Amino acid sequence: MSKINIGGIEEEVITSEEFTLEHARDVLKDETVAVIGYGVQGRGQALNMKDNGIKCIVGEGDYNWQKAIDEGFVPGETLFPPIEAAKHGTIIQYLLNDAGQKAMWPELKPQLTEGKALYFSHGFSIVYKEQTGVIPPADIDVIMVAPKGAGRTVRDNFLAGSGINSSYAVFQDYTKKAVERTLAVGVAIGSGYLFPTTFEKEVFSDLTGERGVLMGCLAGVLEAQYNLLRKHGHSPSEAFNETVEELTQSLMPLVAQNGMDWMYANCSTTAQRGALDWKNKFRDAVAPVFDELYDRVITGKETEIVLTKGSAPNYRDELQKELDTIKNSEMWLAGAAVRALRPERRNK
Ligand SMILES: NC(=O)c1ccc[n+]([C@@H]2O[C@H](COP(=O)([O-])OP(=O)(O)OC[C@H]3O[C@@H](n4cnc5c(N)ncnc54)[C@H](O)[C@@H]3O)[C@@H](O)[C@H]2O)c1
Repeated sequence: MSKINIGGIEEEVITSEEFTLEHARDVLKDETVAVIGYGVQGRGQALNMKDNGIKCIVGEGDYNWQKAIDEGFVPGETLFPPIEAAKHGTIIQYLLNDAGQKAMWPELKPQLTEGKALYFSHGFSIVYKEQTGVIPPADIDVIMVAPKGAGRTVRDNFLAGSGINSSYAVFQDYTKKAVERTLAVGVAIGSGYLFPTTFEKEVFSDLTGERGVLMGCLAGVLEAQYNLLRKHGHSPSEAFNETVEELTQSLMPLVAQNGMDWMYANCSTTAQRGALDWKNKFRDAVAPVFDELYDRVITGKETEIVLTKGSAPNYRDELQKELDTIKNSEMWLAGAAVRALRPERRNK
């Protein structure tokens, strides 16, 4: 375990050098990890564990059954219907989407026999138990590893050799081996480093982050600026380049490398001066919206919507319609045109 000091605040992290893959394999040598749900997260975690030599089986329904076969899982050997996989598993990774976890819980619960571990990648089902009904038996471990990134990057970063950061937590430690089991799976799914959290802290921060800066707020402010520029007669190309393309292609990679100050330091004086003067104004303008958001998260209003909408039979069709509306908006059509003009794509 390493200690990091962030401006006087001490935190612990566990790197894959400290808790090695060899050690993870040893901890998991008598375990069968059953990944229930071959969706975005389940796929990434299952394939990484398989490549890392962990005994791992998949439980999936019709939806991604064929995909699991195409990617190397064998029906009756390493691929089963969800409840059958849970029966065979000793660590049950519950990776259906969060509404699906609520729906399948009454069937899954009887498979959680003494000493097994129930694993999540989100604190949702446990923390909002009044809404989900997910209350595990007392004689099992309940653990979490939550990769901090889209499920897709869990696999892509693993293949690229970089890994992804994950938080981890133990909610219930029946076997007194829950922490070892958690860290072993965390390393086996390809985490670069793991930092401790609780189920509650994970779900509150995650729901806020994705509704806020990472996705909701980001899409909203991009649209606001694009619309403003278009309203004042700027062309779609100009508005898109000035709002999105420069952000993703030029500025964010600099922030990723060395931080916001580094990005500012590498821009013109004119840009720096304006950004420094406007930063606090934007921060203060959105602060009340963030307060409202966090309050809705902790009071369960946001999860209620997720569970209601996510369990509607036509959810996927309705979702696709909403995504298509974004895709076909002028701003993102401009995006498609601008991306197609990137030299690496133009020359193909
Ligand atoms: N997607 C991400 O980027 C991401 C990131 C971090 C954590 N997580 C967490 O990982 C877990 C899995 O999320 P995901 O995005 O991979 O899920 P997903 O939407 O890809 O669904 C996973 C699987 O659930 C099954 N499923 C869906 N609805 C069902 C239902 N009603 N009954 C039975 N099966 C159903 C489908 O077969 C699908 O293969 C969630 O707890 C999520 O919060 C996801």
